[in-house]
Amino acid sequence: MRIVFVGPAGAGKGTQAKIVCGRLGIPPISTGDMLRAAKAQGKLPAGLVAAMSAGALVPDDVVVALIDERTQEADCLPGFLLDGFPRTTPQARALDRMLAARGLELDRVVALDVPREVLIERAVLRRSDKRTGQIYHLKYNPPPPGADLEHRADDQEEVVRKRLETYEKMTAELLPYYEELGILRRVDGVGTVEEVTARVLQALGPNGRHPRGRNEETFPA
Ligand code: AP5
Repeated sequence: MRIVFVGPAGAGKGTQAKIVCGRLGIPPISTGDMLRAAKAQGKLPAGLVAAMSAGALVPDDVVVALIDERTQEADCLPGFLLDGFPRTTPQARALDRMLAARGLELDRVVALDVPREVLIERAVLRRSDKRTGQIYHLKYNPPPPGADLEHRADDQEEVVRKRLETYEKMTAELLPYYEELGILRRVDGVGTVEEVTARVLQALGPNGRHPRGRNEETFPA
């Protein structure tokens, strides 16, 4: 199954992607994580580091190339879950072309809806373990003693606000694009992690499969 998670900063995409992928046996692929890994290895050009630190997007061709290469790896044969890609309609069209050239298509796009004030608290108090990549929250999911924590450079409150603005502009086109294709499902992302997981799995359908087609249904609590 080929799935896309769309949602603003702090919506819970990364948290849910790891859980859902564990259930479905497919890899989560996060362009944010790939870009941060490249930055940590000193392989990300200075202009792209600056864009990320300011809460702006990196150019479409950079992330399209990353996804093109990554989704051709062997572990993606049963499917994959893209977390944070595509973010623009040119990226969405490039993904469609990339998959069509391999005789494939996307099955489902899940948009996580969370109000702005909740997003800011979630992002600003997020910490992750440098060694395991595990995501924690200082209030809702505190890290265990001894965890080697890092605070993302773009999780400062003013940068989070900028990322939320960027997201709002971007989804003005992206969500209607997927709605038109009939594969968009909107999920209420407020509640415990377990409650949100149950809604996401419901939106994906039995065994994670649903036929394409228009569906105005949303997945609230
Ligand atoms: P990226 O890393 O993708 O960041 P993002 O989309 O802003 O999303 P986040 O990682 O901030 O949040 P999330 O939704 O994964 O939330 P999480 O699960 O961690 O992108 C970073 C940057 O890279 C971009 O700004 C851009 O510059 C660049 N980039 C990436 N992709 C790109 C693309 N396609 N095109 C161009 N540029 C791109 O949860 C957040 C916190 O909340 C955690 O602490 C978690 O523990 C907690 N939490 C989660 N769920 C719950 C819950 N239900 N209740 C309480 N707490 C919860």
